[in-house]
Amino acid sequence: MAKNVGILAMDIYFPTTCIQQEVLEAHDGASKGKYTIGLGQDCMAFCTELEDVISMSLTVVTSLLEKYGIDPKQIGRLEVGSETVIDKSKSIKTFLMQIFEKYGNTDIEGVDSTNACYGGTAALFNCVNWVESSSWDGRYGLVVSVDSAVYAEGPARPTGGAAAIAMLIGPDAPIAFESKLRGSHMSHAYDFYKPNLASEYPVVDGKLSQTCYLMALDSCYKHFCHKYEKLEGKQFFISDADYFVFHSPYNKLVQKSFARLVFNDFLKNPSSVDEVTKEKLGPFSTLSGDESYQSRDLEKASQQVAKPLYDEKVQPTTLIPKQVGNMYTASLYAAFASLIHNKHSTLAGKRVILFSYGSGLTATLFSLKLRDDQHPFNLSNIAKVMNVEGKLKSRHEFSPEKFVETMKLMEHRYGAKDFVTSKDISLLPPGTFYLTEVDSLYRRFYAKKASENGIKAPAENGLTANGH
Ligand SMILES: CC(C)(COP(=O)(O)OP(=O)(O)OC[C@H]1O[C@@H](n2cnc3c(N)ncnc32)[C@H](O)[C@@H]1OP(=O)(O)O)[C@@H](O)C(=O)NCCC(=O)NCCS
Repeated sequence: MAKNVGILAMDIYFPTTCIQQEVLEAHDGASKGKYTIGLGQDCMAFCTELEDVISMSLTVVTSLLEKYGIDPKQIGRLEVGSETVIDKSKSIKTFLMQIFEKYGNTDIEGVDSTNACYGGTAALFNCVNWVESSSWDGRYGLVVSVDSAVYAEGPARPTGGAAAIAMLIGPDAPIAFESKLRGSHMSHAYDFYKPNLASEYPVVDGKLSQTCYLMALDSCYKHFCHKYEKLEGKQFFISDADYFVFHSPYNKLVQKSFARLVFNDFLKNPSSVDEVTKEKLGPFSTLSGDESYQSRDLEKASQQVAKPLYDEKVQPTTLIPKQVGNMYTASLYAAFASLIHNKHSTLAGKRVILFSYGSGLTATLFSLKLRDDQHPFNLSNIAKVMNVEGKLKSRHEFSPEKFVETMKLMEHRYGAKDFVTSKDISLLPPGTFYLTEVDSLYRRFYAKKASENGIKAPAENGLTANGH
């Protein structure tokens, strides 16, 4: 069996178009600090009419293959995780096949996985399991997590975002799975769902989704700890991992989630936490599960005692989610990319725990072990390729009026046919794919903005994205 299977390489793409949360807050008439401190968000990326989940996926996959020098014939499995529905039958994966068909590679398994923000994790597990299985043919797996998260006007609108992440999967990876260390929790809930197929916007019960998220976290942590104990013969505590990465709809929920893990450790074994924590959390030890989710005092006390550990083990993972917003399936992996960006030179040998949550609901807590490895598949090179700082710096801030106007146009375009998009591609970075037209048969056409080196990609010459 292949050893140390995991993520060999990563790249991230998010639209350069964004709005500052402070500006949106004032425009929406929310009280000052509600979006920035209350939700913990700084900025939000969004797609204009030129971009969608297909164009972002084409951009990130092409970029990853080019930057790591991967021969497209070496990809044997391609899995996409997304909850942004553009077509109820044709997968995003099939659009991406144009990249590989050109090189004569059509022997690529995998389709799309969908369940709210969890699809990327399902896609990742599928690829890792394939490489670890007897049906693996020795080639790489490739995972794309991609979404455009948009909400109707109202309290949820500032919790949008957009991005695509590509991850190359194979053995001897610098980001290796500890495959036996996984705890899942899956059940039925109506916390966030998209029943209206004529609209891109979800129906969301924000408060319920918070509680569902925290309940799922507790349950996953219990299963995870149980498995760890059976395997290692000792209890698992927060101190057994170096970093915790959470699916991040908005940063405040990440703060609450980590505090919840501290409360879990305290309940499991009070002697595992320091005296101050013991004293502050003691009064809540007799609360029932339901009561504990409703207790504002517990929330406050646990966040307060968790703060030093949060700063050490979680804060380095929060940069991109705070700057780009909720990217649904890409959100967890953008948080992980933030960790690589911030700490790549000191990560070898560290254990990182990830929590993936998709409303509806599906959740898994799993463990990665980071390792030193050979160029180009090492952590420092991954950080260099992703160029997070460069990408964040070269963004274009929209005014709230222009943002609202863009959202209105996108509402109108959702599910529409027979239109061409703007010819002005000046805000797109070189090498970015963009939507040019949707024809009378709803077929979508994409082009690629010339790369920095001026080399024209085939899609720039008017090749269509439906394979003809
Ligand atoms: C999160 C959500 C429910 C918040 O909307 P809301 O109900 O209008 O917001 P709230 O009144 O609860 O305020 C949000 C936070 O800001 C705080 N706040 C409000 N005004 C503030 C201000 N002026 N300064 C600082 N903080 C402020 C609130 O106290 C609250 O913090 P808390 O949760 O620690 O108490 C809403 O944005 C939403 O539904 N988002 C989508 C939910 C989602 O992504 N679900 C998927 C989960 S996977």
